[in-house]
Amino acid sequence: MSELEQYLGAQCSQFEEDLCELLRIRSVSADSTHIPDVRQAADWMIDQFQGMGLTVELVETDGHPIVYAESPAVEGVPVALIYGHYDVQPPDPLDEWISPPFEPTRRDGNVYARGATDDKGQMLTHVISTQAWLKANGGLPLQLKFVIEGEEEIGSGNLITFLQNEQKRLACDVVVVSDTSQFGPGQPAITYGLRGIAYYEIQLNGPKQDLHSGTFGGAVTNPANALVEMLASLIDEDGRIQVPGYYDDVVPLTDSERQQFAALPFDEGRFMSQLGVKALGGEKSYSTLERRWARPTFDINGIWGGYQGEGAKTVLPGHASAKFSFRLVPNQDPTKVTAALRDMLESVCPPGITMNLIDHHGAPGFLVPLESPYIGAAARAIERGFGHAPVFIREGGSIPIVTNFSESLNADVLLLGWGLNDDNTHSPNEKFSLADFHRGIKASTHLWRELSRIEVS
Ligand code: BES
Ligand code: MN
Ligand code: MN
Repeated sequence: MSELEQYLGAQCSQFEEDLCELLRIRSVSADSTHIPDVRQAADWMIDQFQGMGLTVELVETDGHPIVYAESPAVEGVPVALIYGHYDVQPPDPLDEWISPPFEPTRRDGNVYARGATDDKGQMLTHVISTQAWLKANGGLPLQLKFVIEGEEEIGSGNLITFLQNEQKRLACDVVVVSDTSQFGPGQPAITYGLRGIAYYEIQLNGPKQDLHSGTFGGAVTNPANALVEMLASLIDEDGRIQVPGYYDDVVPLTDSERQQFAALPFDEGRFMSQLGVKALGGEKSYSTLERRWARPTFDINGIWGGYQGEGAKTVLPGHASAKFSFRLVPNQDPTKVTAALRDMLESVCPPGITMNLIDHHGAPGFLVPLESPYIGAAARAIERGFGHAPVFIREGGSIPIVTNFSESLNADVLLLGWGLNDDNTHSPNEKFSLADFHRGIKASTHLWRELSRIEVS
């Protein structure tokens, strides 16, 4: 490994420069005004892969493009597919950023920018480690196929089609994803479970326009009142979701898994102070880690309607809306949830109000079987890169496409997260530890070697 290590040492600041270049591109997939920026990030990835001598293709979709790159086939060893995303979440609220979201800034050992950890920084560790192998060793010990998409943060709708159409080209033994977190600083992890998601928008319409709340209030049903009542009916005071049949397919936590979670060094007090809250809440009879990783949830993501300007205005709004989502656990089917939810909301929608429910996106939860030989290879690579053996955790977030990868390509999935829980993903001042960036690169260089040693049948 010494040539490689020398290369990593010598190029260390170049890698950070490359990361910053990508972080300057405003590739916000949810916002149509950023369509050209999203494409610019895809082009940047293409240039990167081309510079490394890989075969590349910018795959057009009905939405943002997919970047595909592959290295030459290697006989008799596994093929690894690396999945990541170059799109990012919107940066708002802008006034809460210490340095602007698209001007990457190095501060206290971190780089601050939207996408630093989710997922530009983490994804690049694998691109850079590949570049290092090619430069220092002149070739790779196994074939790598990169699928880097621009729509993960909006549900990966077009990637699903690409996967279905290109099963042959994408054929692989193992899928590597770095888009999760370590358990804590200095404690790397392999994630073996992700939650799924079902995301909706509801619009309620009452009178044809806003009304004087004195003249009409009490006689005309207020859509904002109706909205909060309808949303509140979705969950009870014990944190149990009230959509009929919602828990039917939920796989309960086993006693041994509950014991494993409880054995992890999780400091609830620190967790609360990190978030600035004095108490935690959630489904009764479950611990915080259980609630975050392995139990279904309901969250309102945005809610509006009526007067929001300065001072008081006595108005009965004509419309009210909300965006809300459920996190799902393995075996729950988002399509089933949507049907049951629609029926329930229709039944509780009061007379005088019309409802429009939009199904934005959905994806099932995911569990990795831990007995795969690839897990052992990943654990060894992580230990080499981070100096500690990984712990095994689940996470509460969702990566919609992983289920499709594992089912349609029949490949094992490795979720190797280099991030930290306080990286501020999807929120102001997102960051990525530069030390973890370099450790991730190092772990990844070891991963290619370790994976290449596994026998394929
Ligand atoms: N990288 C995250 C997924 C993630 C978050 C994994 C936290 C583990 C812990 C990913 O980019 C993400 O944000 N996914 C979305 C999916 C959604 C938009 C379909 C999510 O979880 O909200
Ligand atoms: Mn991500
Ligand atoms: Mn994300």
